[in-house]
Amino acid sequence: MLKIGRNDPCWCGSGKKYKYCHQPLEEKLEQLKKQGEVVPPRKLLKTQAQLEGIRKAGKLNTEILDMVAENIHAGMSTEDINRLVHDYTVSHGGIPAPLNYCGFPKSVCTSINDVICHGIPSEDEILKEGDIINVDVTTILDGYYADASRMFCIGEVSAEAKALVEATKEAVDLALKEVKPWGHLGDIGAVISEYAYSKGYTVLHDIGGHGVGNDFHEDPYVCHVGVRGTDMVLVPGMVFTIEPMINAGEEDFYQDEENGWTIYTEDGSLSAQWEYTIAITEDGYEIITH
Ligand code: MF3
Ligand code: CO
Ligand code: CO
Repeated sequence: MLKIGRNDPCWCGSGKKYKYCHQPLEEKLEQLKKQGEVVPPRKLLKTQAQLEGIRKAGKLNTEILDMVAENIHAGMSTEDINRLVHDYTVSHGGIPAPLNYCGFPKSVCTSINDVICHGIPSEDEILKEGDIINVDVTTILDGYYADASRMFCIGEVSAEAKALVEATKEAVDLALKEVKPWGHLGDIGAVISEYAYSKGYTVLHDIGGHGVGNDFHEDPYVCHVGVRGTDMVLVPGMVFTIEPMINAGEEDFYQDEENGWTIYTEDGSLSAQWEYTIAITEDGYEIITH
């Protein structure tokens, strides 16, 4: 770590002296580290300027999901959703982050029924009454990233599907109630997994949330199965997603070999996911996009 004098300007660009800005926090982190805690490195603490940029990306990202909510209907293709997301993003000055990300061919992920995540929009895939679909939107605005997804029920869906969709949202909302600075990442995974298991569902261990903001996927890895009081300490300035994938059946999954992306439940059971990007604040959290 760069050694900064107490009276030098803080690394974060606030213009304040280090001793009046990040020094007390970083000393506390050093202390915690000595006690064996996992603490975030400086690069995971967003500066005020970065937070401003990430908020703007988040605002546009939420608008895009609202626009999808107004337009999604039986009979449209997932490619229609892709076009809506792409055109809206670009016409508002943003860039759809999925497009060309590690070779991903579309501007949004659309994951129907037993697709857990990373569904690729297609002209041939038509939404029909009874489907549940996750639409996962990530937007880049002025170089900053925000990432969120929602479930949509197409017309009347089965009671089983509706319960899964609602429980998955509830799991995230319950986890948010426990998110606070100086808590732990493991608290989030504990709440989500305990709730999901109590309903007889399973939770993906191997695909999870992530730091986000300056890049699409940053540290830390946010596991949605966890133990309270373990894993990284939550510190003001951290920005990350909470995005549990919850299966009605077994946790096992497989990847589409042809497209290299799409993840399905092994047993064909339904899967649901909601994703929020949040920032840890001085006294709790702030929703960046949802
Ligand atoms: N938006 C997804 C996430 O929540 C990542 C999608 S990667 C893509 O992390 F390439 F498939 F878009
Ligand atoms: Co996402
Ligand atoms: Co994400």
